[in-house]
Amino acid sequence: MRTPILAANWKMHKDVGESVAFAEAFLPLVADAEGVEVVLAPPFTALASLGQAIHGSAVRLAAQNVHPEPKGAFTGEISASMLVDLGCAYAIVGHSERRALFAESDEFVARKAAALLAHGIRPIVCVGETLEQREAGRTFDLIETQLEGSLALVPHARAEEIVIAYEPVWAIGTGRTATPELAQEVHAFIRERLAKRFGDAAARVRIQYGGSVKPDNVYSLMAQPDIDGALVGGASLEPDSFARIVRFDRTGGPE
Ligand code: PGA
Repeated sequence: MRTPILAANWKMHKDVGESVAFAEAFLPLVADAEGVEVVLAPPFTALASLGQAIHGSAVRLAAQNVHPEPKGAFTGEISASMLVDLGCAYAIVGHSERRALFAESDEFVARKAAALLAHGIRPIVCVGETLEQREAGRTFDLIETQLEGSLALVPHARAEEIVIAYEPVWAIGTGRTATPELAQEVHAFIRERLAKRFGDAAARVRIQYGGSVKPDNVYSLMAQPDIDGALVGGASLEPDSFARIVRFDRTGGPE
């Protein structure tokens, strides 16, 4: 019912040449991967070239960020219509690195998600608790607040177009993955909150897990009922590694 979505978040890695070389190596590896949606989010500077390199394949292009305003005096920023221009199907918003390093609030994330939807780009909205928040028993409260704030401007009729990425901050880039059971617990909670807000559409919203997803743990994560994909940083930088993650249903399983 929900097509799994495996997305590569390259963060500030790969120039144009490296992005195109990735596509050339990666596309043949996933050419026969069926029943999954595959998304690549390079830095802004590589969007155009990577978009050309994946043109004609089933792989989709994503941006890592967007500014909510359509145009204006916002030095250094990129609007949703500029991303449409480059063929972006998705854009990541509210990543914990942007929340922590660039002080992005839920309200700002909500405006970004709304701008994307208005331009037909699907937002991947990230939420997740820090270790401190988890240890203080605040995980569910925090996730609820982030969801409410970040999705505040999503019209009910468009709910199915959003993707949620649950990324516990303590698992990002640390090699410390949430156990499948722990992740499932939060995913189920997220779906319940989505149902409260959007009703039946919540059953059709994809919820990705992110945080040290690797070829050897993707299978057990994806086996959970409410985990519908992965947002992958480090392990998405090599074509073989990300292709194995995309093919979790064929080659997966603990090694
Ligand atoms: P990671 O990053 O896979 O390197 O932990 C995930 C993310 O930040 O989206």
